[in-house]
Amino acid sequence: METIISPSILAADFTVLGKQIKEIEKSDAKYLHIDVMDGLFVPSISFGMPVIASIRKHTDLFFDVHLMIVEPIRYIETFADIGADLLTFHLEAAEGRVEETIDKIHALGCKAGLSIKPGTPVSELEPYVQKLDMILIMTVEPGFGGQKYIPSSTEKIRETRDLLERYGLDTAVEVDGGITAENVCVVKEAGANVIVAGSAVFKGDIAANVRALAEG
Ligand code: DX5
Ligand code: ZN
Repeated sequence: METIISPSILAADFTVLGKQIKEIEKSDAKYLHIDVMDGLFVPSISFGMPVIASIRKHTDLFFDVHLMIVEPIRYIETFADIGADLLTFHLEAAEGRVEETIDKIHALGCKAGLSIKPGTPVSELEPYVQKLDMILIMTVEPGFGGQKYIPSSTEKIRETRDLLERYGLDTAVEVDGGITAENVCVVKEAGANVIVAGSAVFKGDIAANVRALAEG
């Protein structure tokens, strides 16, 4: 399965965001990971619609939007309109409306991803697997960049791949949080194929960092 690197702009220098996105375009990365935080589902607030709409005008990169917001269904249409390609929301935030949220994302022509936090078991994903384009296993507590990879995540990635295999699916499995050139081989071996990285991409030479993650 092809490995896709998805640089998280949470770690970008926002004063030169356009320039850094151009560097990502020139690298081997095909996705742009866009973290939306509402200060409720997670303690921090990141950025929202104006930033996404503005960068959409300047790049054709695939927008991998990670919604860390309560009741994500309220904003699906807005994010689809401003150019999201893939909308991933949290199982813990969807309040019994997971299936409805997935259907809404698809009806708007986007791909749908479902994410779980480190404390949520993989088994909770099972009712939805056949509808999903991607599963995002959080490998840190969502909310902040620059944290350390939680080692027990490796087993969850493996369990997710096993669950998908039981259904005969080769759905994408994304990992997010604390991924570096040193530990990327561990998550790939466990079955992850979409690799989010913030700090490990934006510190230093972007293209070289992306290459190290892709080859690691
Ligand atoms: C954390 C975000 C991540 C974050 C990853 O809640 O979802 O996408 O930017 O940052 P690093 O790679 O620095 O851990
Ligand atoms: Zn993220």
